[in-house]
Amino acid sequence: MKINGTAYRSVWVDTEDSWSVHILDQTKLPWSLDVVRLVTRDQAAHAISSMQARGAPLIGAVAAYALCLALRNDASTEAMERDAELIGATRPTAVNLRWALERMLTRLRNTLPSERVAVAYEEAALIADEDVARNEAIGRHGLPLIQAAARQPRCMGRPLGRPLGHAVNVLTHCNAGWLATVDWGTALAPIYAAFNAGIDLHVWVDETRPRNQGAALTAWELGKHGVPHTVVADNAGGHFMQHGMVDLVIVGADRVTRTGDAANKIGTYLKALAARDNDVPFWVAMPSSTIDWTVSDGVAEIPIEQRAAAEVTDMTGQMADGTIATMRVVATDSRAANPAFDVTPARLVTGLITERGCCAASAEGLLALFPERR
Ligand code: MRU
Repeated sequence: MKINGTAYRSVWVDTEDSWSVHILDQTKLPWSLDVVRLVTRDQAAHAISSMQARGAPLIGAVAAYALCLALRNDASTEAMERDAELIGATRPTAVNLRWALERMLTRLRNTLPSERVAVAYEEAALIADEDVARNEAIGRHGLPLIQAAARQPRCMGRPLGRPLGHAVNVLTHCNAGWLATVDWGTALAPIYAAFNAGIDLHVWVDETRPRNQGAALTAWELGKHGVPHTVVADNAGGHFMQHGMVDLVIVGADRVTRTGDAANKIGTYLKALAARDNDVPFWVAMPSSTIDWTVSDGVAEIPIEQRAAAEVTDMTGQMADGTIATMRVVATDSRAANPAFDVTPARLVTGLITERGCCAASAEGLLALFPERR
């Protein structure tokens, strides 16, 4: 996608040295666009754990490049296995991390140590390029859902009707846009496709406390593409649904079980409950690299990352004079808990949008699209 007319991906290899890895520092957005150059395994691992690079598909791609950087230092089998384990421990919920490392190891275990670096970069580039293609396909398959909403009669007999002319109103949570993937995004891919197709649409962007990925990242990237949007407090979505102001919800996912349960940023489950109560379609968009075929019960089996309490007690923002400041917003003596994800059970999900098409959030639905997993 473009930033001020220049095309970017969220991770890329340096075009001059052909080995160092660049990312956009997402902890600095929307205040500044900082490119970080990663040259060691530890820098890349830190980029994932500190969330300079975040979002399930991007975590997978950066993990693949982290292994490339590690192999430049030591390409022995022992070091490779140890480094993959270390990189794999940076974040627990997004299964794309494990998926990417397993894919890299499967190829590299069958490669001579002397050839591993070159092969690793080749495989990491494939992972990145395939992610772009998958997300572009998610956009194509999700587009008809927004087109159908655009054709529906206005207001649906609800009290307030649409807030912005006749626009289709989509609500999204967290950031599942191009910043969270290598390009295009997952939940935002159908939105970009619809906008590019000339559909009049407007996006309600959940701020997504505690780290504000919606307010800081989704709003920024939608704005850069010219997509009309409004940032709302996390707790406002139910109200807008009750008043007929949301036509559909589209969110991303960090791990989807073989049965269609979806782990995503904390607060997603509450939006799904509100959507069900108000008959608003609730769609989960994700590439197949986000499906964990080994897990059936998402609530019981998906590990939920517990992050630092400071992410809840403190907030970072820009002061009137332009400086960036972090301040405490919680009473000094109070503790805070910070589960970073929750699981939306398949029964609350209208359907899944994948690179192979849309399906029911169920084992049958997924297996119909991915028969090789039977
Ligand atoms: O903690 P984050 O910012 O990595 O969480 C990101 C999300 O929850 C996204 O919605 C999810 O990864 C889908 S990304 C296309």
